[in-house]
Amino acid sequence: MDLLEHQAQELFDKHGVPVSRNRVASTPDEAYAAAAEIGGRVVVKAQVKTGGRGKAGGVKLSDGPDAAREVASAILGMDIKGHTVHKVLVTEASDIVDEYYVSLLLDRGDRSFLAMVSGEGGVEIEQVAAEKPEALARLQVDPAHGLDQVTALRLVADAGLPADVCGDVASILVRLWDVFRKEDATLVEINPLAKLADGTVRALDGKVTLDDSARFRQPGHGQFVDVSATDPLELKAAERHLNYVKLNGAVGVIGNGAGLVMSTLDVVAYAGERYGGVRPANFLDIGGGASAEVMANGLEIILGDPDVRSVFVNVFGGITACDAVANGIVQALGLLSSRSEAITKPLVVRLDGNNAKEGRRILAEAALVGVRTADTMDGAAQLAAELAGKGA
Ligand SMILES: Nc1ncnc2c1ncn2[C@@H]1O[C@H](COP(=O)(O)OP(=O)(O)O)[C@@H](O)[C@H]1O
Ligand SMILES: [Mg+2]
Repeated sequence: MDLLEHQAQELFDKHGVPVSRNRVASTPDEAYAAAAEIGGRVVVKAQVKTGGRGKAGGVKLSDGPDAAREVASAILGMDIKGHTVHKVLVTEASDIVDEYYVSLLLDRGDRSFLAMVSGEGGVEIEQVAAEKPEALARLQVDPAHGLDQVTALRLVADAGLPADVCGDVASILVRLWDVFRKEDATLVEINPLAKLADGTVRALDGKVTLDDSARFRQPGHGQFVDVSATDPLELKAAERHLNYVKLNGAVGVIGNGAGLVMSTLDVVAYAGERYGGVRPANFLDIGGGASAEVMANGLEIILGDPDVRSVFVNVFGGITACDAVANGIVQALGLLSSRSEAITKPLVVRLDGNNAKEGRRILAEAALVGVRTADTMDGAAQLAAELAGKGA
């Protein structure tokens, strides 16, 4: 999950990374009140999950509350790279002398954590990396050891930062490591980390990506979820602990195992080319030992998607054998009708693997209305795509 700047700043502050005083506002009047409370010159900043807000006109200086109200009314509602601005951050204006870049991230390519520092802050770091790679110092961080002051100082010196700020920037990096590790982030970035006229160093921007897989041990992170921006079906699926991602096609997909579901999406998209470009409507992995209830919950989410015109249930029996899955499907459909969820969309079921024969026999015997079986994954994808193509 990516955070907004003000949320990132909140986490920075919690771990002792110096930030400016700030308030969030959703209306021009709130921006006025925030500016009056902060006092003096303020900067009004669009809160959207994308960089380059400054260049896009989403970061504006104002002299006081009246100007802040005016600027906020221009920024609120603005579209920045496809993101609509619903909130602004009103923060005290800093007298910037110099701008640096610091970040910590999970480097999947290197299978390690990476710390980066540059004296060329304020501009997009991809540009620095491409045009002046020597200006970006990098260091692998050993997760068992973490980042200490001495190591951080060496990195900051490598980046060629002025001697008078090296100590402060190193301390900030050590605290940023705390944010990274204790909050289970995969990215924390400050750009710019600014040296101010009074000699202090402060985070003027913040970008944080939290690891969603660690959410179970970070109960406080629930507050960062923007419910209004999340797809309602994904929200409902998350409440039921289903591994679901909404896509924009017409064939609902359920499978057991992420790899199987991923390849099912490909096979459906390929088969769909023959039926006017029919595509998968979602990703849904119900996992290995899925019970009838999980199957019912999954089906309910998918059948509740108005874009879905057919459903492809693709199961490869492993430890949970196909006969158990077939019984699960029969029970799931029973459960759905007891929840008065009418099954109005055709289901194509492909069972293979452990005890497939028995599974197919159970489905055939149950003779469920609207449920068809197919022997192969390709055959099932064809049928599901054809049914969706017909708008069946
Ligand atoms: N509180 C502030 N005081 C003064 N200048 C600021 C302040 N916040 C941001 N700026 C200036 O605006 C630029 C862009 O702001 P930033 O928060 O980095 O947004 P983005 O990276 O999305 O463009 C910064 O590089 C800095 O020069
Ligand atoms: Mg920035």
